[in-house]
Amino acid sequence: MGEKMGNLRRTIMCGELRPEHDGKEVVLMGWVQRERNLGSIIFMDLRDTTGIAQIVFDNTVSSEVFNKAEKIRSEFVLAIKGKVRIRQSINKEIPTGEVEVLVDELKILDESETTPIYIKDDDNVSESMRLKYRYLDLRKPSMQERLKLRAKTAKVVRDFLDENSFIEIETPMLTKPTPEGARDYLVPSRVNPGEFYALPQSPQLMKQLLMVAGMDRYFQIVKCFRDEDLRANRQPEFTQIDIEMSFVDIEDIISINEQLLYRLFKELKGVEIDLPIKRITYNEAMERYGVDKPDLRFGFELKDISDLVKNCGFKVFSGAIENNGAVRGINVKGYGDKFTRKDITALEDYAKTYGAKGLAWIKITEEGVTSPIAKFFSEEEFTNIIERMEGEKGDLILFVADKKSIVFDSLGNLRNEVAKRLNIIDPNDMKLVWVTEFPLFEFDEEENRYVAKHHPFTHPMEEDIELLESHPEKVRAKAYDIVINGDEMGGGSIRINNSTLQKKMFSALGFTEEEAWDKFGFLLEAFKYGTPPHGGIAYGFDRLIMLLSNTSNIRDVVAFPKTQSATCLMTNAPTVVSHKQLQEVHIQTTKNQNI
Ligand code: AMO
Ligand code: AMP
Repeated sequence: MGEKMGNLRRTIMCGELRPEHDGKEVVLMGWVQRERNLGSIIFMDLRDTTGIAQIVFDNTVSSEVFNKAEKIRSEFVLAIKGKVRIRQSINKEIPTGEVEVLVDELKILDESETTPIYIKDDDNVSESMRLKYRYLDLRKPSMQERLKLRAKTAKVVRDFLDENSFIEIETPMLTKPTPEGARDYLVPSRVNPGEFYALPQSPQLMKQLLMVAGMDRYFQIVKCFRDEDLRANRQPEFTQIDIEMSFVDIEDIISINEQLLYRLFKELKGVEIDLPIKRITYNEAMERYGVDKPDLRFGFELKDISDLVKNCGFKVFSGAIENNGAVRGINVKGYGDKFTRKDITALEDYAKTYGAKGLAWIKITEEGVTSPIAKFFSEEEFTNIIERMEGEKGDLILFVADKKSIVFDSLGNLRNEVAKRLNIIDPNDMKLVWVTEFPLFEFDEEENRYVAKHHPFTHPMEEDIELLESHPEKVRAKAYDIVINGDEMGGGSIRINNSTLQKKMFSALGFTEEEAWDKFGFLLEAFKYGTPPHGGIAYGFDRLIMLLSNTSNIRDVVAFPKTQSATCLMTNAPTVVSHKQLQEVHIQTTKNQNI
């Protein structure tokens, strides 16, 4: 039913119309945002990717055109020709609000049924409806802006890296498992019965091989696939800016990346970040913020009171220390009166989701000190605790006693949560920090062995190499994360390029030589033939766009994202496939197949 464009050719975009076009004949094309029929005159808002223009039909058009216009509804696709004129009632809300186009020629290029979601930003519709009708959701100006920002960011990255002699090289999507520690997405091979490719969790091994290959400086904006529990800032397929460089040490990598970050913030946010970017070691981050990705936009730092309470009468505290744990607190300085008892109970419930068994507190007000734990302490002990916590009138102090990992995890997250509830974070404030000197290993309770915190090719810090066998838990890595406003934006390391050291690393990880060769033999083989010192980094590209566009939902910056349960509501992927298709790839499933 749609009419043809005929000889109409778009002369200008809807969002570009300005008073300077007064009197000009233009052709616009787009979707009808809304129409208002006042009887003898019809107004419509016509929308394209650049914005909205008001178009008008009145008695200057033929009755045939007017009658056709009366049938137009929201989201019809139109081509119109007409004259620009200055509006009688100016709309200051939109950039084109001073002008309108008086139509004399109209083509309805396509009609539209009533859309299941409104095409406007504050539509209050459920996210599942937005995802099911993603192509409609993407018509919204905010979504279009985010995708444009995403494209522009990619361009700034490419331009910068190109200027600095980096070469963009594609690496395979059908590959061997990569060492990032999540579960793999597997793809069955039809021609090799019973065998599988893994989709890459990152191009880690390939980019190292490109360094062996002499490419010197590599980058790629690349999809990665990880089958892991999804959160607000994770997608099963996501995009990395992946970088690797030869003949470098940590400082070289940090330095070029600081220039890249400077450029990104300058060009995309108009913000000049301070260089050099602040640095904090992993240990200091844990001690002061409880997490390895500290948000430096607010205070409330963790303080240790273990030494003050180790012999106290409050068994919850002294017992935790007896069991090799700790007692730490945060002082929500100056905001005590914002938290009622009920609010504190809510904070306690929050802390419990991170394994805390309770949340002890002290509130200091004009009237004095209230605290459910005061009764357990001598006056001196209590005064010392308040002093350590720098407690003053107006403060709320919160404590967790437990094994260290729970104390850090619960208080670290509580610290962020408290700031969020207080609504004291300025979203335009950008606090960047490098977290350095990560531990090389972490102990995996399930597997009862050390595993690589980053991956098995991460170089230990030179001065810690001698501890590899005796005290693996003390070995720090030449690894670094860039953290922005409490989010891990990227991470990388210097890699091992020496086979003796690599062997030591595998043995510390409990791999036999054979197992190591089975998994990564192609890389170890390559390392035999002259490997330059090398290292790199990868940024979470989606996370970067989230930050630049001020959203906390990763799905907002991905055109066609997956839900928390890794499904696509628009295509219904994943789906069952036919018996025939399964047979072709030599697969039997344990679920019933009906097709
Ligand atoms: P890493 O595993 O730290 O390092 O990943 C790099 C960055 O990618 C982002 N990221 C994700 N973003 C969205 N959804 C996910 N599921 C997801 N997982 C990770 C994070 C993270 O900082 N090969 C190493 C890099 C290197 O050593 O060079 C790597 O992949 O922002
Ligand atoms: P109880 O005497 O067990 O009721 O505890 C008194 C206070 O200590 C309550 O406010 C509890 O929330 C708090 N509490 C209990 N266990 C812990 C813990 N492991 N760490 C911090 N506070 C706790």
